[in-house]
Amino acid sequence: MSDPVRTGSLRGIMMRGPGLTATLPFYEDMWGLKLAHAEEGVAYLRGTGEEPFLYGLRDDSVFGIDYVHFAMPDRASMDALHAQCMARGADVLGAPAAFEDWAGGYGFEILDPDLRRLRFRTEARRLEAEDDWAKPKKVSHVVLNTPDMEETQDFYERVLGFRVSDYSADQMVFLRCNTDHHSIALVRTHYPSVNHVAFEMPTLDEFMRGIGRMKQKGHVPTWGPGRHGPGNNPFAYFVSPSGFVIEFTSELQQIDETTHEAQVWPRDDPEKMDRWMTAGPPTPAQRAVMQGRPDPGFPELKPNARSGAAE
Ligand SMILES: [Fe+2]
Repeated sequence: MSDPVRTGSLRGIMMRGPGLTATLPFYEDMWGLKLAHAEEGVAYLRGTGEEPFLYGLRDDSVFGIDYVHFAMPDRASMDALHAQCMARGADVLGAPAAFEDWAGGYGFEILDPDLRRLRFRTEARRLEAEDDWAKPKKVSHVVLNTPDMEETQDFYERVLGFRVSDYSADQMVFLRCNTDHHSIALVRTHYPSVNHVAFEMPTLDEFMRGIGRMKQKGHVPTWGPGRHGPGNNPFAYFVSPSGFVIEFTSELQQIDETTHEAQVWPRDDPEKMDRWMTAGPPTPAQRAVMQGRPDPGFPELKPNARSGAAE
């Protein structure tokens, strides 16, 4: 089989849950994002780059991911990815078309094996980049909890062209779609949920200053600061007002496709989990909040869900 079409990059994520838009001030006043656009029940938050939004808040009855948001470079690659999704048996939610939402552009959506919605968009609205120190520039990565890590990994590799960068024992796999060590990582757990969303600070100095801004406003990290083994990125985790875990990071390892070989990182060597030895292991409370609430995804959108139910 020829090399698969590869997903271009991670744009960000739209979250959903009860009362999410009411938490907007936390992201504006503390986390360092800016409101780019608001409409009834939805808020789009931007970083300092050209991306129309990094993190979205949508009011809904259940807590979880509304969609993970990816970019493709152009319509040709979008159409090729769509054809690949169809050919490889993904649950594809329609043909590529214009998006009618605020971010606009062209693309399509699919469901992953845990019924998460993934949106692929090209020709999106672009904002003017802002020169604003110690504010998140982009979403670095999204980490997903999944009950069948092998099936989900296979899907992201085979259908979406991701490649394995590293493993953390048999508990985590780090997946890349471009030079970033990981845009998606999977954690083996009992039910699908969101583990965390990481925001990239341009420099280590700005990463620390972001932590300081949070601390001055009464939010200390629930885990970190520290530096991970896989990906070699500094981390500081916080819990959002809605109970989602969010991370500041920076300096994520860049992968050279010609030389990189995935490793299995051990979890029983503290200095390989926590390179600075500043963070220690996550507390039981931190593990619990990273396990999160079960995310039902979108079973109602699954193609043929209605005919299947009628049989
Ligand atoms: Fe992370």
